[in-house]
Amino acid sequence: IPVDAFDLVIFGATGDLARRKILPALFRRFAEGQMPPEARVIGAARSDLDRAGFQAMVSEAFDEFMGDTAPDAKSRASFIEMLDYVTVDAASDQGWSDLTTKIRPDVVRAFYFSVGPSLFGALAAQLGKFSLISPDTRIVVEKPFGNDLASARALNQTLAAHFNEQQIYRIDHYLGKETVQNLMAVRFANVLFEPLWNARFVDHVQITVAESVGIGGRGDYYNRAGAMRDMVQNHMMQLLCLIAMEPPYCFEPDAVRDEKLKVINALDPVLARDIVRGQYQAGAESASFHEDIGAPDSQTESYIALKVGISNWRWKGTPFYLRTGKRLRARASEIAVTFRDPPHSIFGETVPWRTNVLVIRLQPDEGMTLRVMIKEPGPGGMRLKDVALDMSFAEALGEDAHIPDAYERLIMDVIRGNQTLFMRGDEVEAAWAWTDPIIAEWQKTAESPEPYDPGSSGPENALMLMHRDDRRWREIR
Ligand code: BG6
Repeated sequence: IPVDAFDLVIFGATGDLARRKILPALFRRFAEGQMPPEARVIGAARSDLDRAGFQAMVSEAFDEFMGDTAPDAKSRASFIEMLDYVTVDAASDQGWSDLTTKIRPDVVRAFYFSVGPSLFGALAAQLGKFSLISPDTRIVVEKPFGNDLASARALNQTLAAHFNEQQIYRIDHYLGKETVQNLMAVRFANVLFEPLWNARFVDHVQITVAESVGIGGRGDYYNRAGAMRDMVQNHMMQLLCLIAMEPPYCFEPDAVRDEKLKVINALDPVLARDIVRGQYQAGAESASFHEDIGAPDSQTESYIALKVGISNWRWKGTPFYLRTGKRLRARASEIAVTFRDPPHSIFGETVPWRTNVLVIRLQPDEGMTLRVMIKEPGPGGMRLKDVALDMSFAEALGEDAHIPDAYERLIMDVIRGNQTLFMRGDEVEAAWAWTDPIIAEWQKTAESPEPYDPGSSGPENALMLMHRDDRRWREIR
């Protein structure tokens, strides 16, 4: 179904995120017939380009970033017709009246701040000054949303001076992933799992977001962030919330976000002994973290594992183990819910240990596996064996299994005015309020991150974090 006509202004339109993600996502929605012919996408940046120059830049970006899926000449030409460009500078009035003339009064209006957070305030002020903020205006902001609680609060206040909460769309692109939304479908559209989804039946939960890539060209940013701020405070926190939250009373933005917030508020502080941080070393063909980051004495972590407790009625006593890192053995994100042992075995001691595991694979190879016990065939008595009930979404859904990129879904939700998959201001602040003391905790001990080999599954001590509790991580494959 096409969305309503809109004007989408992308500030920072010549930047990496716009060229790599936002513009290709818009093209794909266009190709699927979801963009109405009256839609306009206006690039805005400091570069001195004209409309044709911007159109050429976008076309080049498609070739650079879309690989085999880059559009053919015909559809590329019709998409590019929708594009326009203005040269603007957040810090001056230059170009702003030009932008004003391009915005139509009677269509949905969205401003995408694809720029660093230090420019949010200036951009918002200019939008106000040039009367570009109508009641129906939306703005989209990206992570990092602050670097700690104080800076996130300051950002929220800056934005609140110009926009109300219903106008602010804070992106966490994990929420746009189909398989992440699927966590809610699995939990709340089936009756099978929910009765067991609590500390009585769940022994522990593992959340893994493993990446095989290094930190790329983002040394400066990453050195300030590290895995805790880059992945745990946002993406992993969202996964944890969706797995742990109570059923929202309906699938409406605030109903869902209220439940997520309750989980964040119930998270226990994490002690130093429950944190393992690591840094990748050089490999045969890859540089070390220090070389990548260009700072030989950096204490920033490229890997982190944490044991997290949730102090509420449902989860007290069930630990959640989280781990994420760069340059690991494989790119593999999954959530594994490990159930407790049966209360009593009628087969004597032959029941293996904690067999029932529900694994939800987020990427790649999206799907679900449930491990169950069956009898091993043969006359040799009651021998038991655990087998996998395995489902690949691609196979189960057949031709409809095209999995759209997160940005496709999220940008269209902005136009539709649906905030369900965006973070509310209080949610982001609560996540930082939990994160800050954890960082302070390891800063207190001043322990250096533990080196690990590229292509491995992380530092040795991360294994110990589980072994100590008589548990073990699933293999990263
Ligand atoms: C980004 C982080 O938010 O998410 C990156 O800044 C990380 O460091 C990326 O690589 C992971 O996203 P995805 O969609 O590739 O899992």
